[in-house]
Amino acid sequence: MKKTATTQAPVNEVIANRWSGRAYDASKAVSNEQIISLCEAARWAPSCFGDEPWRFIVWNKNTDLASWQKAFDCLVPGNQEWVKDAPVLLLTCADTLFGHNQKPNRWAQYDTGAAAENLCLQAEDLGLMAHQMGGFNVDAARDAFSIPEQFTLMAMVAVGYAADIKTVTGEALNRETAARKRKPLSELFFDSVWNKPI
Ligand SMILES: Cc1cc2nc3c(=O)[nH]c(=O)nc-3n(C[C@H](O)[C@H](O)[C@H](O)COP(=O)(O)O)c2cc1C
Repeated sequence: MKKTATTQAPVNEVIANRWSGRAYDASKAVSNEQIISLCEAARWAPSCFGDEPWRFIVWNKNTDLASWQKAFDCLVPGNQEWVKDAPVLLLTCADTLFGHNQKPNRWAQYDTGAAAENLCLQAEDLGLMAHQMGGFNVDAARDAFSIPEQFTLMAMVAVGYAADIKTVTGEALNRETAARKRKPLSELFFDSVWNKPI
């Protein structure tokens, strides 16, 4: 299912077509080549001081079910409801310290978000669907995967092939069928001065 954005101005079709769907095809694996391509896209994100503060853990249900399950168990029930069919899960983390001087990096989360969006757009371009999630137990994930305190756990991401919407049930189905919407450009983008709509 496609849910192309209705945009106020023309944008690249990969941007318009990327969306956070919840119907995944459990029968279709994501290849290792595709996973590496997703990582490569994230790798080429820009970052403050070229620090590349992001770290990603990738879990592939088809090659290591036990680890995928351990990651899945960290998700909140509302996400587990639909993530169960996604063959790949990722966790994005941000280094709180700059590599070159070990001082606090206040742009690390910004950069990690950019890397994550690169990955989501690459997924769309590969015919996959990526869906980011803040709904997971941070402490449980840190414990389960021995993630050092220096790193802030940001979001998990489900990746796989989209399935027919009929595979989604409950509350997720309502969200799945709702129209995609955004605030108008004029509310968030300003012309020269604060709050003057572009
Ligand atoms: C950091 C972040 C956390 C999110 N957390 C969740 C989540 O826990 N569960 C969920 O279903 N969607 C989650 N989403 C998806 C958003 O709801 C979705 O991106 C937003 O509604 C816009 O829809 P679109 O991505 O289809 O354009 C999250 C997205 C981001 C970027």
